[in-house]
Amino acid sequence: MPAELDRFRTVRSHTEELAAPLSPEDQVVQSMPDCSPTKWHRAHTTWFFEEFVLSRWGAPYEPVDPRFRYLFNSYYEAVGPRQPRPRRGMISRPSVEEIAAYRQAVDDRVAELLEDADDPDLLATVELGCHHEQQHQELLLMDAKHLLWQNPYRPAYAERAGTGDHPTPKPVEWITHDGGLVEIGYDGEGFSFDNEGPRHKVHLQPFALADRLVTAGEWLDFIADDGYRRPELWLSDGWAHINAEGWDCPLYWDQVDGVWHVFSLSGLQPVDPAEPVVHISYYEADAFARWSGARLPLESEWEVIADGQGPPTPTFGLHPASAAPESQPGQAAQLFGAVWQWTASPYTPYPTFSPAAGAVGEYNGKFMVDQQVLRGSASITSDGHARASYRNFFPTKARWAFSGLRLARDV
Ligand SMILES: [Fe+2]
Repeated sequence: MPAELDRFRTVRSHTEELAAPLSPEDQVVQSMPDCSPTKWHRAHTTWFFEEFVLSRWGAPYEPVDPRFRYLFNSYYEAVGPRQPRPRRGMISRPSVEEIAAYRQAVDDRVAELLEDADDPDLLATVELGCHHEQQHQELLLMDAKHLLWQNPYRPAYAERAGTGDHPTPKPVEWITHDGGLVEIGYDGEGFSFDNEGPRHKVHLQPFALADRLVTAGEWLDFIADDGYRRPELWLSDGWAHINAEGWDCPLYWDQVDGVWHVFSLSGLQPVDPAEPVVHISYYEADAFARWSGARLPLESEWEVIADGQGPPTPTFGLHPASAAPESQPGQAAQLFGAVWQWTASPYTPYPTFSPAAGAVGEYNGKFMVDQQVLRGSASITSDGHARASYRNFFPTKARWAFSGLRLARDV
């Protein structure tokens, strides 16, 4: 099956390309309980193929190292006990070189298996493994950014490609929708995650969605207007949290000689007012929306507008581009390839959703509580993960993901 094999090899080698700028020392460190070391991402994505593909279809299969099942299982209860997530940074052994050898050994075995594979279950599981690894490619960059930012040197992961002009974004135009009975959820031919379906009907009130993202310049206005100091703008939990944490700006923002700077994967740079604001929590997005006289969109509102716009063409970047949107009238810009957009929708199962049987069923379903859905995709999101039905999700306080916002309002 050369097509599947090609895709597998492409995904696997791209992970290694993304890890390459990080030194062995960088790759071992864990900057906070939610982040994982680069080395762990490289090993865990390998373990996924070992556990869910080779142990089932590669029989008789001898694991590369039986201890890796404990070290590199993420959260699969059906697989067994595992290294606690906050202690992944303690795994100083095996070394980065040993993880590279682990990857190679598993790649060889999976490639062998794919040479003449025609079992649809096997091919579907390899495809899931590839999409899983692509999600971890984004996590690898998110987590590396958080790590590098902790270092007082503020080291860059890589130089930023030319950033071009920074035109001032035009005022928001509102894309209106009459509401009524609509359908959301994936029902296409290609790959999707289980949480994107089943497709189902939703009733919407008339609404309007902003045709572009909220910018860093608008966020500076929010700060200047005491947005972080006015309790009436905040949900109770959010107000308590920003005060407990001392938050008064997005994550990675800092004043240098009185000028706001932002840390990116390319190091510290002045905040560009034209770029989308990024690294804000749900609480901050919600407070900003209230300050603006607007609200956050429902995920169904976001999807209905995005679904009507044809296939996305996101571009990769270490930091969201400052492009002023050049959308056609009635079209939304920056839906994909800039920042994940917080929605007002809690992450819960769609009607009639049921997870797959077995350990793979733990992939999404068991996390469907106490988190909010984000839509779109970020500049660091892997190819093939930009689609209207994609549901990302994070806890309300999280802001190390590339999270921003787009406004909505009632009509
Ligand atoms: Fe994973």
